[in-house]
Amino acid sequence: MQFTQLLALAAASCFSTVSAVGVVGAAEGFAKGVTGGGSATPVYPSTTAELVSYLGDSSARVIVLTKTFDFTGTEGTVTGSGCAPWGTASGCQLAINLHDWCTDYQPDAPTTTITYDAAGVLGITVGSNKSLIGQGSAGIIKGKGLRIVSGASNIIIQNIHITDLNPQYVWGGDAITLDNSDLVWIDHVKTSLIGRQHIVLGEDASNRVTISNHELDGSTSWSATCDGHHYWGLYFTGSNDLVTLKGNYIHHTSGRSPKVGGNTLLHAVNNYFYSSSDHMFEVDSGAMILAEGNVFQNVPTPVLSPVSGKLFTSPDATTNAACTTYLGRACQVNAFGSSGSFSGTDTSFFSNFQNKNIASADTAANANSNVVNNAGIGKI
Ligand SMILES: *[C@@H]1O[C@H](CO)[C@@H](O)[C@H](O)[C@H]1NC(C)=O
Repeated sequence: MQFTQLLALAAASCFSTVSAVGVVGAAEGFAKGVTGGGSATPVYPSTTAELVSYLGDSSARVIVLTKTFDFTGTEGTVTGSGCAPWGTASGCQLAINLHDWCTDYQPDAPTTTITYDAAGVLGITVGSNKSLIGQGSAGIIKGKGLRIVSGASNIIIQNIHITDLNPQYVWGGDAITLDNSDLVWIDHVKTSLIGRQHIVLGEDASNRVTISNHELDGSTSWSATCDGHHYWGLYFTGSNDLVTLKGNYIHHTSGRSPKVGGNTLLHAVNNYFYSSSDHMFEVDSGAMILAEGNVFQNVPTPVLSPVSGKLFTSPDATTNAACTTYLGRACQVNAFGSSGSFSGTDTSFFSNFQNKNIASADTAANANSNVVNNAGIGKI
């Protein structure tokens, strides 16, 4: 046998041992059982148009991103009216007068003219039965988000980075939108430099959702609080939503991280909340939140006052035993470093956990050691 044939053989056997391209791991918590594109043969889009087509068609697909898909400029720019509700200093976000938001809600704000990228405003439609995954740390979508709406279900988004959606402007775009959906798993995704919400679960039912190992990077030069921290983090106000929020690194925000309302049962476990300039949780009427094993570091206001919904903050071992009846185990205490207080002992909603898939909980000490290194793109 010649040397080149040997090499070819070696290469072939090498490739045969590489596992198939696909989703890594499985969802735990409420979206457990999600399969996305399942075992469909992976497709590798090469253009933004091809990516849009694969995401939106009615085939089950495993879609692999191997590079940056830059949507900026693909739909042109729009010049229109806007306003400056938080002032005109260079660190402040301006707002686009989209759907007359400035006219209706900020009538006293100075008005201005804004030119923004059209592609950012509305995300790419994602159909049912899709896995969207990135290769290594290469899978980046720039200038446009994702929309999982109109009954779409069984979707996995893993190991990608969504960035640069008109970050100067409120209403410039949301990174990931769910509204009228079911069984969605967002895992090891990073979002940064977003105009509006990083993740928004709209007012229709989003049903079963797991958001895990996410990096929400709120660092920005254009903030509604004019202080380098993004205000519009996570917005969960669906009419019938079960949200597991586990192992996420949520940092440099100034509000709504998360804002919870509607009829949302939120299990926030082992998240690392870091460096907020204002509040993290906003608990509106209808929210039911169990928070355990989280770390708050440099968060002056873990929860905004007043709390209108139901909140259990797993304060101590005695109180946390209340979890056992419905979660099958005691809850883990949260941990705080240079942070304000976070207190709630409402257990009246715990029966909603019955017969659901419940995420396991590690200690806050382990979350403190692991989450920052594990969350976001390029970590699996
Ligand atoms: C998604 O997959 C399921 C199971 O194979 C199938 O029943 C359903 O019709 C698919 N949905 C769409 C929109 O293709």
